[in-house]
Amino acid sequence: MAEPHTDPAPADLSAAVDAVLPGARTDLEALVRIPSIWADPAHAEDTRRSADAVATLARDAGAASVEILSADGGAPAVVAHWPAPEGMPTVMLYAHHDVQPTGGDDDWSSPPFEPTERDGRLYGRGAADDKAGVMTHLAVLRAYEGRPPVGVVLFIEGEEESGSPTLTALLAEHRDKLSADVIVIADAANPAVDVPALTTSLRGLVDVVVEVSMLERPVHSGVYGGPVGDALTALCRTLATLHDDKGEVAVPGLVRGSSDAPDPDEATYRSDAGLLDGVELLGTGSIPDRVNHAPAVAVLGIDAPKVAEASNVLLPRARAMVSMRLAPGQDAREAQRALAEHLEGSVPWGAHVSVTPGHGVAEPFSLSSTGEVYDHARAAFSAAYGNDAVETGIGGSIPFIAEFARTFPGAAVLVTGVGDPASRWHGIDESLHLGMFGRGVLAEALLLDRLAGGA
Ligand code: BES
Ligand code: ZN
Repeated sequence: MAEPHTDPAPADLSAAVDAVLPGARTDLEALVRIPSIWADPAHAEDTRRSADAVATLARDAGAASVEILSADGGAPAVVAHWPAPEGMPTVMLYAHHDVQPTGGDDDWSSPPFEPTERDGRLYGRGAADDKAGVMTHLAVLRAYEGRPPVGVVLFIEGEEESGSPTLTALLAEHRDKLSADVIVIADAANPAVDVPALTTSLRGLVDVVVEVSMLERPVHSGVYGGPVGDALTALCRTLATLHDDKGEVAVPGLVRGSSDAPDPDEATYRSDAGLLDGVELLGTGSIPDRVNHAPAVAVLGIDAPKVAEASNVLLPRARAMVSMRLAPGQDAREAQRALAEHLEGSVPWGAHVSVTPGHGVAEPFSLSSTGEVYDHARAAFSAAYGNDAVETGIGGSIPFIAEFARTFPGAAVLVTGVGDPASRWHGIDESLHLGMFGRGVLAEALLLDRLAGGA
């Protein structure tokens, strides 16, 4: 790899970051212990506790004001301010404190809400996504002893994993409290623990629920089966039309892009994903193009009887949630309509179909990595990580980005983060690499220093 293009981090800032890391790690563990799964109503109170905990940390990090805001009954978000020194820009630091469901506590190697260190990684739900982002920002503010060299608006959302359904309302109600010249979104990943990334494209996301009905009521599968079909089979045939034989998305009219990103080593990619022997990759084109610049469709859930409870009846109705990732350049609502129309037109045997669009819609996003702010970011990141930053796309979505960019079109947007391919976002045994966490904190501290005119 080429020599990184800047000097190492100034010693005093490095030392200040090193001094705050142990405390930041302890506070990260405390946040991970709170099961802030906003998408599950049973955890609404936990999500409120999690917002309270973040608000307390912000106060302790010297914020001049701290508020917990929500709009339209949405999740609690924390907004805290460190006013800009005279003539300095204001930087918004974004992360989210809500987390995904665990996917089955018993499958974890250690309980998901008991943070546990193994081999330099901290395991726990939210340890990477995105409580590590929350603590990155707070650690930077602590390293500056509560007096950052630029103005800071800390914005910690509580419903990102639910598709940010009330974010538009929140931004509209509190626009004046959220404006910033630069925004740093710490919710993405790096290609390796010592190679920082600046993420320049994200996919969008839409979902629909498709319900197929065939009969007024369940009937004996022997007495009627044959001439009379069942709704679950009709639903499966409908869902089977979402891909062609190569595994390419078959919904017509969707945007597809490309990049010159090189293919990763296929064996490593397969093992990171946990693909079983002999299972083929779907679609065509390079892997980065398939993940970052192409649509993808998946069935996330089906309502139908459990196998253990199945009986010999033809099922009158069945439904599925279908989720579709969208390439940058795609209009999310148009894609949702195309998906609904495709499903409606693909139901066999005259079965009745209804498609209900999901509320949350994440627009895809792509960023231009030019300009002074990006130059500062590249310099700060290479100094902190010891390697130059790479530009990458990610296949995941962060609905906040497009919303924020629409509200504040002049702001420069940087998408960073402290995940890596081993972080298992949304999966069993999610984890954070603690060494990379330290580098991420230093990178962001250096970035603020540079944005304030330091070098
Ligand atoms: N932090 C993730 C996005 C991400 C995943 C970035 C992996 C880098 C690597 C984010 O919290 C997320 O999962 N977002 C949801 C958004 C959705 C609910 C609209 C997603 O992509 O599923
Ligand atoms: Zn996240």
